[in-house]
This record gives sequence, structure tokens and C-alpha cells, in this order.
Amino acid sequence: MSAEKSFPISTLKSHLHAEAEFFDAVDPLSFMREEYFLPEGIYLDGNSLGAMSRQEEFRLDEYKEARRKLGVRAWTEGSNPWFWLNNTLRQKMAPLIGAKPGEISIMPTVSNAITQAVSVLYDPDGERKGVLVDSNVFPTDGRAIAAYMRDHKLNPNDHIHTVPAQGEITEEKDIVATMEQLKDQVSLVVWPTVDYKTGQLYDTALITREAHDRGIKVLFDASHSFAMVPHHANDEDADGYVWTDYKWANGSPGTVGGMYLNSRYQIEEGVLSGWWAAEEDDQFDMDWLSPLANDARRFESGTLSVPALVSLLGALETLETTTVAMRREKSLKQTGHLIKLVDTLLPERGFYIATPRDPRRRGGHIALAHENPAVAAPINEALKRYGVPPDFRPPRFIRLAPACYNTFQELVDTILIARDVYDSGEYLQFPGTRRIVA
Ligand SMILES: Cc1ncc(COP(=O)(O)O)c(C=O)c1O
Repeated sequence: MSAEKSFPISTLKSHLHAEAEFFDAVDPLSFMREEYFLPEGIYLDGNSLGAMSRQEEFRLDEYKEARRKLGVRAWTEGSNPWFWLNNTLRQKMAPLIGAKPGEISIMPTVSNAITQAVSVLYDPDGERKGVLVDSNVFPTDGRAIAAYMRDHKLNPNDHIHTVPAQGEITEEKDIVATMEQLKDQVSLVVWPTVDYKTGQLYDTALITREAHDRGIKVLFDASHSFAMVPHHANDEDADGYVWTDYKWANGSPGTVGGMYLNSRYQIEEGVLSGWWAAEEDDQFDMDWLSPLANDARRFESGTLSVPALVSLLGALETLETTTVAMRREKSLKQTGHLIKLVDTLLPERGFYIATPRDPRRRGGHIALAHENPAVAAPINEALKRYGVPPDFRPPRFIRLAPACYNTFQELVDTILIARDVYDSGEYLQFPGTRRIVA
């Protein structure tokens, strides 16, 4: 029997609020809430654009001051000289990916980073020209690989392979079976650490091991796990990782992306290059024939947006008041709690959790799905009306992404709002299709 049949809803609500109050009271990360500017309402979109921290604002103010007062001298003078920002960020990102700072490149976007990483890890002239991707492949990843192939006179339709989808979740054993089946054709796997729609977390160690056993390289897109789920790139002998910094790392929109390539690739040249690829000391020799840097700088290209870099610096400094392990622990409690709330408050209405229930297979967000795809988009819009911005991903996923700054009380309120807008039929006022930014 469902909880709502055994208790009147008012009793259930007060029980859930009291329980959440307790969880918030004992939450070791509750202090993080004060570190951020949270938009009015319940901010549950940290996997799309993380909230702005006070330290990010401080770094941006510092930047404005330097830009105003020092002009070009701010590259090397002032309290936070811009020229060394890439290096500082490399240091800060390395532990989050489980690598050495010299293996981290700061890239303008993930879209750029994928092109660069593919150009190093994939040989279009090799015997095995195939690339294996997931069936939900993020558009940037798919397009970048296809464009690279086309540029090498290859037809992507012939060489991009997917693992046949057996439902919303892709089992690792099916990825391995496809690698085995295509091992004579495929030389690179490009895979997400966390599926951006369903929130499924993949076993990166297993995928890497199985791929390497077949002579296949792996590039992970960690956009939906970076700074939220601990990564162990060096321990797993990974080939490459790329990630965005404006999601769980809380950088500003359009902030830079990151790339890790195992140090064994530091003899290679990427397809994107520029004057920032030189050794730091050589850069101002202005000699385009000077050697590339001996570390991950060699994969960087031009001048990055300094406001984006300082934003990210502030965002990472705020996160450093915790550890990724602590954030992961809180996140798993939050997503586990959301699952319980959906089971308790939304039974028999066609809603279900598309994210794996096993915490070891869950990233940082929960995909609340509805059996009828035409219901999910309007529920998402109705939630926004009540100040809860989740986001909608076709065909039927409402992504709920609690971050270190969210309370358990907010999670209860969110699912109560979803229940109210569904039961009252209010959601029917909204179109059954997504908005331009969903
Ligand atoms: C999984 C994934 N990969 C890549 C990107 C694109 O990143 P960028 O805009 O930095 O190119 C996104 C953006 O949301 C993403 O979710």
C-alpha cells in the first residue's frame, strides 16, 4: 500500500518536513548555502549552470579593478596576475580528475576540447577507423567527431557506431559486448561519465580496462560529473577526459572547459594550436617554430577569456572549503532522498525515476520521467512557475539536480509542488513541448 493511502496527506507532509529538518540540521555541508547567491525559489539546476559563489564575485570584482586601474599591466601585476591563471586552474582541477597538473589543459569550451582530444587519440588513417559512442551522445560530442572524420574524407555514417539501446539505461556489459564485436573496426570509444539525460554513472575503470584489452582508447566526457563525482584518471590509466566547468564546478556560463590527456600523449600535436601552446618562458619569443611545451600546455591554443578564468577560480576556491568526497556523500543522500520522495508522494500517477537506484550507478542528478512524454515538459514548466528551475530533456526527463547549497527541505517542497501541479491539472496550461532553452 502506498504511503499516501496509509496516512492523510497533511500528516505525511508534516512528517516529511520534520524529517528534512533533521537532515538539514545534521548536514555537515549546510554552511555552503551561505557561500552562494541563490536565485529566488529553489535552485535545482546545478548540473546545467551552477550557482554563483561569493568568492566568484570577489574574483570578478578584483578583475574589474585590475582591468580599470592596470590595463595591460594586469597580465603580470596586481593581486591576481592574469598570465598565470591557466597554471593556477590546472593545479586546482588536477585532483578533481585524479591527474597531475601537467596533464590538464584549459580549453575554451568542451566542444573545442573534444576536437583537440579526438585529434590526438584517433588516427583517421589507421586500419580501425571506427569510433563508438553512446546512443544518447551529447550533440557536441557527436558533431565534433563527425566533423573531424569528414575533414579526413571519412563518412561518419560508416564509422560512428553506437551501442544498441536496451531501454533508458545502458548496461556496461552491453558496451563491452559491442567493443568485442567491433574490435576490428573501432579504435576509440567516446563515452560520458554520467549520462546527461538519465543521470546514469558509468564504471569508467571497467570501460577503460575492457577497451585497453582490445587495443581501443577511451575519451570520457565528464561534464556531468566533474567536481561532483571523484575521478581517478591516473589510477585507471585513462587516455582522456574532457569536461565543462559551468555545471558542478559552478563556473560562469560560457566559462572554459578542461581536458586531460595521459602524459604518454605529450609527444603528440593537436589539431588546434596557437601561441599559448609554447613553454611559458618561450611564449613571448614570438617564434612560431619554437617547440611546444612538454606538458599539457602544448594542447592549449590562444588567449582565453580572463573573466571566465577568474570566475572559475573563485568558484573552485569556494568548493575547496569542502572535498569532492564530502560533496558526493551529500549528493547521494539528496538524490536518494528525492527518489524516496517520488516513491512516497507521486505514486500511481505515471511518474518514475529513470536514474539507476543503485547509488554506485548514480551521478549528481535524478531524472524524473513520466510514462507519457507529453506530461513531462508541462510539469517542468509548471515547476518553474513555482520558482523551481529544473530542466527538461527530451523525450520525457525532468532533471532535478541538488547541489551542496540545497537543503533537504527544498527537496520535499519540490516534489510536493510537482504533486500539486499534477493533481490540480495546473500543468495542462503549459505546452507539451519544450521551450527554446529547456
Ligand atoms: C555532456 C556535455 N558535453 C558537452 C557539452 C558542451 O560544452 P561546451 O558548451 O563547453 O562546449 C555539454 C553542455 O551542456 C554537455 O552537457
